[in-house]
Amino acid sequence: MSDAPSALRAIRLRCEHLNPTLGLNSARPRFTWSLGGQALGQSACRLLIGEDRDAVASGRADLWDSGRREMSGLGASYDGPPLPSDRHLWWSVQLWDEAGRPAPIPDPAELFTGLFAEDWQAEWIARPFVPAAGRPVPQDDAYDNRFQARPVDYLRRELHLPNAPVRATAYTTALGLYEFYVNGTRIGSDVLAPGWTDYHTRAEYQVHDVTGHLRAGGNALGAILGEGWYSGRVGHNQRRAGNHYGGRPAFLCQIHLHYADGTRQVLRSDDGWTCARGPILYSDFLAGEAFDARKEMSGWSAPGYDDADWQPVETGDPEPRAPELNAARAQPIREVERLGARELGPCGSERIYDLGQNIAGYCELKITAEPGTRIRLRHAERLTEDGALYTENLRYAVSEDVYIARGGGEEVYTPRFTFHGFQYVGLTVESGALLAEPALTGIALQTDMPRTGEIDTGNALLNKLLSNIFWSQRDNFIAVPTDCPQRDERYGWTADAQVFWRTAGFNMETTAFATKYLEDLIDGQSPEGAFPDVAPTKPLNPYRLTPQPGAPGWGDGPIIIAWHDYLRTGRTDLLHRAWEPFVAWMDYIEAANPDGVRLNRVNNNYGDWLNVGPRSDPALVASAYWVHIADLMGKIAGVLGRDRTRWHLLAARLRASFRGAFADSEGRLSGDTQTAYLLALDFGLLEDRSPAVARLGQLLEEAGWHLQTGFLGVRHVCPVVADELSERRAVDLLLKESFPSWGFSIRHGATTTWERWDGWTPERGFQSASMNSFNHYSFGSVGEWIWSRLAGIDWDEAAPGFASIRMRPIFDERIGHLAARYDAPSGRIESAWQIDGATGRWTVSIPPGATAAITLPRTATDPTLAGAPLQSAPLGPGAHVIEFGYKADQD
Ligand code: BGC
Repeated sequence: MSDAPSALRAIRLRCEHLNPTLGLNSARPRFTWSLGGQALGQSACRLLIGEDRDAVASGRADLWDSGRREMSGLGASYDGPPLPSDRHLWWSVQLWDEAGRPAPIPDPAELFTGLFAEDWQAEWIARPFVPAAGRPVPQDDAYDNRFQARPVDYLRRELHLPNAPVRATAYTTALGLYEFYVNGTRIGSDVLAPGWTDYHTRAEYQVHDVTGHLRAGGNALGAILGEGWYSGRVGHNQRRAGNHYGGRPAFLCQIHLHYADGTRQVLRSDDGWTCARGPILYSDFLAGEAFDARKEMSGWSAPGYDDADWQPVETGDPEPRAPELNAARAQPIREVERLGARELGPCGSERIYDLGQNIAGYCELKITAEPGTRIRLRHAERLTEDGALYTENLRYAVSEDVYIARGGGEEVYTPRFTFHGFQYVGLTVESGALLAEPALTGIALQTDMPRTGEIDTGNALLNKLLSNIFWSQRDNFIAVPTDCPQRDERYGWTADAQVFWRTAGFNMETTAFATKYLEDLIDGQSPEGAFPDVAPTKPLNPYRLTPQPGAPGWGDGPIIIAWHDYLRTGRTDLLHRAWEPFVAWMDYIEAANPDGVRLNRVNNNYGDWLNVGPRSDPALVASAYWVHIADLMGKIAGVLGRDRTRWHLLAARLRASFRGAFADSEGRLSGDTQTAYLLALDFGLLEDRSPAVARLGQLLEEAGWHLQTGFLGVRHVCPVVADELSERRAVDLLLKESFPSWGFSIRHGATTTWERWDGWTPERGFQSASMNSFNHYSFGSVGEWIWSRLAGIDWDEAAPGFASIRMRPIFDERIGHLAARYDAPSGRIESAWQIDGATGRWTVSIPPGATAAITLPRTATDPTLAGAPLQSAPLGPGAHVIEFGYKADQD
């Protein structure tokens, strides 16, 4: 052991997968980190938690010091004395490297403990149904819009404080969407808070440090309260377009103040608040927003504002019950990128703009105009051949924002409680006049997960495909993993999510988001054990309050998502949390299908959704998925130290039933489609694989080496083709530009992943407007193969969390070079290869504590490492350069 400093670094500190952590839902939160710097690994760690950031940074912790613990694992659960609520803490971790040298203590991470259930004293407040006597009744035109959308509420309260607090923390949430203000200042940068949960069961609250905003004397608190997922329009059911959880948004806030003399005070939402309508005439996900700047109420959230004509709010428990209040489990939604709009020219009375990128978000509009000038912004993903906005595929979503100018100088406007899925914008001046050229900027939103990976290659099409996959993820990871951001849908569809989850985790840190979504899925589980098709669930069905039970591949999603999260992170939290719900889902299926073939309780059996070419047998797809999740349950049981016997027996029985029901004596599978063989091979369902491999090859040959797969099959195409048929053929599929292929959509202008292979074709133009999104991430599930095989950065089930990395890259001269970096839970992994004629070079970088098992493709000959022949032993931490001869595969 030595006291000489180590070059080891603890990086990316996370508590409950977040930094900052804004509230806890667990008494034993989990702290994790990754390794950086130059060292072989970690031998010990010491966790430090305290109130004083600088003290923690220098190794002094007043709340908890775990002491040195000999362990190489990159995480520990809190096991000190119970953490108090309403605390603002800092934590860090000291590490020792493999030789026992201490590493420097990294900058502390921020941790708010939040409020526990028993701490809540605030009352839900809402606009009154009936205005108090003596107050003005609402204007006749309040609901006078074609959607009958509700005007947005403004809420305020003034209060007097004896002193300025030394610490003040606000805990806020809404049934609806809100922005919070203190003394005229908007607090926080999150948008669309509090996000979407099943509000009848739970709502998440936000935590804001408002210490610097409150002062001795007069203060004012304010909130703007909109409809959002709670009462606004969501989804595609026109008979029940809105009011899914309730008809009246409500707000809740509690502020804990601490004074220098040790006293405390709690401010809370109560009947002392008042409310009014302001400039936001309505703001709705599907309709858009209308904003009349002439109605702005300057200073409404500052002290001293004259609110004599505001109404007193009503307090009370929301129907049917008050939701459980939880700290937010994922990062907030934020504005993450601004894109300048290029004006394309006029189309009729509309000026058309192009952002160059399909986004989910809205526009910032900058204008100088006559007072009362009325401007309409329409949003679309594509243009028609005449250069007009194509909006038919939005279905009932209107996606228009209307701005009425105040006049008298430059005005800057962005809507608040809406977002659109769009690349093109049409601006119309409906009345009045602009006095200067308008300027438009697109603003993209997403749940603000840190980016983890990036790949750059020598192939422009592949780079665009990676960009499209990334953007479709960004555009759809907004509070929940939605199917699409533009039309009247925007649900958290389970199959879309599960096929994409592995890809998603290469792009962004998805564990916190998965934790939240899994909670939504469990909230949506039926008493019989059925996971839902979508989560959160309530809006789907107007006729019953139970959600639509999940189809095969859909309801199976939670198990697959949690398993993938475990393999990516090595953390078992989600598996522990969801074990019982998983068993209930397995029971639900098994009880109805005694013969081991999944024919019953298949609900809306969607099958291999949106394939092209021959349709796969939905019973085969369903049964294949059943075996797959039975296998996963066996593995999960093993990880959790539970008995695996039930799952092993079940999986063996289901395999036999699968073969009996769907394979003939020659090994032909029912339906005889690409997806049938892909699932059977990738899920390991066959005793003799060779007939299926041969038949898959024939089917691909007959299709001119084009894929014919839908949402469920597509994920397996490149992996199975590469492993069973030919790596070069798999790259062919990836780089193909003829229909159907990923390249086809890119050739026709895709900047995000299309929902359908034939979303637009030169022969037919647009697919049916009844279902044609240009921003669905499911077909982007090929991303995992680009990462794991082309870049060669793959997890290893035996040592999850990328503690051991399987590196089996595919080199291909058509791609030329590829450089990938991935911030894995173990640390940063890099892989960069380049082909120069008959030689190649591959550089890999492995984080401390990790190893990489290397397998070179057949195209690489005579590999050397540092001049010596490459051995089969795994590579350790650090950078390694492998040189080889290159010979392209010919098949
Ligand atoms: C959604 C999907 C979803 C599917 C299920 C569609 O409307 O957009 O992505 O998985 O329905 O049928």
